[in-house]
Parts: sequence; C-alpha cells; structure tokens
Amino acid sequence: MTALTDRARGGAPVPDPFLPRPFVVRTARQDTRDTHTLELEPVDGGPLAFAAGQFTMMHAFGAGEVPISISGDPARPDRLVHTIRDVGAVTRALVHAVPGTVVGIRGPFGTGWEVSAGRGGDVVFVAGGIGLAPLRPAILEVCAARAEFGQVSLLYGARTPEDILFEDDLLVWSREHGIDVQVTVDNGQHAWRGRVGLVTQLVARARFAPESTLALVCGPEVMMRYAALALADRGIPKDRLRLSMERNMKCGVGLCGHCQLREFLLCVDGPVLTYDRLEPLMSRAEL
Ligand SMILES: Cc1cc2nc3c(=O)[nH]c(=O)nc-3n(C[C@H](O)[C@H](O)[C@H](O)COP(=O)(O)OP(=O)(O)OC[C@H]3O[C@@H](n4cnc5c(N)ncnc54)[C@H](O)[C@@H]3O)c2cc1C
Ligand code: FES
Repeated sequence: MTALTDRARGGAPVPDPFLPRPFVVRTARQDTRDTHTLELEPVDGGPLAFAAGQFTMMHAFGAGEVPISISGDPARPDRLVHTIRDVGAVTRALVHAVPGTVVGIRGPFGTGWEVSAGRGGDVVFVAGGIGLAPLRPAILEVCAARAEFGQVSLLYGARTPEDILFEDDLLVWSREHGIDVQVTVDNGQHAWRGRVGLVTQLVARARFAPESTLALVCGPEVMMRYAALALADRGIPKDRLRLSMERNMKCGVGLCGHCQLREFLLCVDGPVLTYDRLEPLMSRAEL
C-alpha cells in the first residue's frame, strides 16, 4: 500500500490518499455553454503543489467523485484551478458550484507533461476542445521561461467558435509571449472569419525543427491518434511526443484497476505517456 501510494506521488510523503481535503470555491467563471472554471483555496491554508499535466479527484458532496486535470498555474500552489465540462451528474454538480461551496480534493495524481524536456528546442501544443485545460499549466510554464524555448506553437481545435476556451489567454500567449496560436473550428457560422477544419490539418503548416521538438497533445482520443501520426510523420521522435490519456478512474492511486489500459494503470503510469509506449495501443480500437 505504502509503495503503491508513493508510486502515485513520485515518492513524496502521502498522509492518506483516500481522504479528501476540503477546498472552498473562491471564483466560478462560465467559459462556454457547458464549461466552467473554478478557482479553489484549501480550507486548511496549506498549498497544493502540482506538476503541469496532473489531475485531482474532485468530490462534489452528494453527487460523487471524478478525475479532473488541473488547469491553473504551477507557480501558484496556493490556488487550485479546474476547468470542467458538464457531461453528467458529478460534473454538473461541480460546474454549478458557486463561490463559498466546499468540495473535496484528493491528489494531485499521475504523471506530468515534463515541459523542461523541451528547453533549448521548439514546442508544439495540440489541443482539442476541453483538452486545452490540461495543457494550460504547461503553456504557462513555457511562457514563464519563454527565452529558454525556441519556436512555440499552439494548434487548437474547438467544435464551434462559441466553444473556444480561454480566449483572453490565447491573445496574451500570442501577443506577449510570441506563441504561434492557430485556432480552427469544426463548424463556423457566418460571423466566424477564422479557419474551419480539423486541428490535425494544422500540423502540416506548423513551424518546428522536428528532431529537437517537444509535442504535447490533449483532446478526444481519435483526435490524438491522428495528431500523433501527423507529428511523428513530420519527424518528431516518438519519445518526445506526449499524450494525455483518459479512462474511468476510482482510486487514483493504482489500486482498483478501473483505469487499466493494457499494461498501464493510467492514474499512476499516466495520464501523460509518450507515444512510443502508446502507439501499439492506439492503433487498436476498443482498448
Ligand atoms: C485524468 C483525467 C483528467 C480529466 N480532466 C478533465 C478536465 O480537466 N475537465 C473535464 O471536464 N473533464 C475531465 N475529465 C473527464 C471527467 O473525469 C469526466 O467527464 C467525468 O468523470 C464524468 O463524470 P460525470 O459523473 O459527470 O458523468 P458520467 O455520468 O460518468 O458520464 C457522462 C458521459 O460522459 C462520458 N464520460 C465519462 N468519463 C469520460 C471521460 N473521461 N472522457 C470522455 N467522456 C467521458 C460517459 O461515457 C457518459 O457518456 C478527465 C478524466 C480523466 C481520466
Ligand atoms: S483509478 Fe484505481 S487503479 Fe487507476
């Protein structure tokens, strides 16, 4: 048990990984029709340090518990930020949490993006839909040390213009940090003057030197499969191409087996895994 929980936390001391810590919602912002961002503070005042790409198990009392990636700034462990899409009972309870609501938090759990591996080279982020939320902490890390990275691109696909997340951030990342932000939508109405099409189509025109590029991909699994193929086709080494995988989760610490993907328990071996390890699994449907 101790060894397993230590594995989940990368060796850090873990008091009790099953005991939720109370966090209070400080701000609640509606981002899109079905997606909200909550800023939370620990009731006990202690920080919650995390690595970009990790997730917590969020407990909405009376509704249940779900895994949600952290979308905030790793440099601000005093403030936990989660961006949540309303798809079912628990996420609905969470998106309707108003300031003052107390929720339970376990974690952080899982592997991170390890942005530092990209220092000295180019970085490509590929995001689909709510997949921009788990990538946001990694983008903020790159922005904070911008001079240490070369060309940085963000390729982002949303269903419609109304589903585009973090529009203010997209502007800041582009204007103030020199990130080449390319946005496309699946369906654009008359007022939309931007690109229409699949995010994977943006890979062909992105500028990067493949051999020294770090590529971080998050979105629906089918989108990640085609994005990874396109990025690998352009010559990015498969061990420098990272994807965040999702499966149903219960314990979050490698004990229950709910999140198994063949030899991986995604709550501890993932959610972020390199493409050289995932490729054999992603080429097979229904795993
Ligand atoms: C590591 C990890 C990180 C995640 N990060 C986020 C995040 O940052 N923001 C966010 O909004 N969601 C995130 N999710 C997905 C989130 O956990 C699910 O949407 C949630 O568990 C659904 O619970 P529910 O009770 O609201 O809905 P349910 O009633 O359990 O499900 C409603 C519908 O959503 C589908 N669904 C359930 N889980 C998932 C899933 N993991 N992926 C896709 N569809 C699913 C179900 O098949 C069903 O059709 C993450 C999942 C994992 C594993
Ligand atoms: S969620 Fe229990 S083993 Fe991963």
